[in-house]
Amino acid sequence: MEIRDLLIREMQDLYDAEKQLVKALPKLAKAASNTELRQAFTDHTEETKGQVQRLEQAFQMLGVKAKGKPCAAMKGLITEAQETMGEEMEDPLMDSAIIAAAQKVEHYEIAGYGTICAWANAIGLNDVSDLLEETLDEEKATDDKLTEINEPILAEMGRDAGQEDAEEAPAPAKKSAGKTQAAGSGRKAG
Ligand SMILES: [Fe+2]
Repeated sequence: MEIRDLLIREMQDLYDAEKQLVKALPKLAKAASNTELRQAFTDHTEETKGQVQRLEQAFQMLGVKAKGKPCAAMKGLITEAQETMGEEMEDPLMDSAIIAAAQKVEHYEIAGYGTICAWANAIGLNDVSDLLEETLDEEKATDDKLTEINEPILAEMGRDAGQEDAEEAPAPAKKSAGKTQAAGSGRKAG
């Protein structure tokens, strides 16, 4: 096996993965309560259709037939997302849980496309690399967008948790009249 074969195999993996996502993303959109989140999934569904086409174009550039190789990893990630969507939880928590599931998907794709671009570049297939780098950028942008949408959701949940703690706390009012600080706010995920 050579690097070109490995490149094609990874493209086949992602080709199948993207096709699975074209079907799964609308389900995530439907399960989302936050309108921005729902819109992000709807937008990314359309983007994903374009990514499928880009891979077809890349196969053509390599002179091979566009073909998928069943991606067990994406299947597993989607199964886990579906398990999450089947659970009972409040809307904001569900949104955050769906974001987590979607970010795992994006990270898988970022790893895959990053590798493909590097391999294609290594053997002088710069046109293939440039084309698929557009997809890589879209996946990174989606990942960032999800982080951004998650921030106010988490802040809100943090405030609610702080309030509940205050309500549950034993009665006598303390001397401090200051406002309760929401716990865990402003902490960025690395
Ligand atoms: Fe994708």
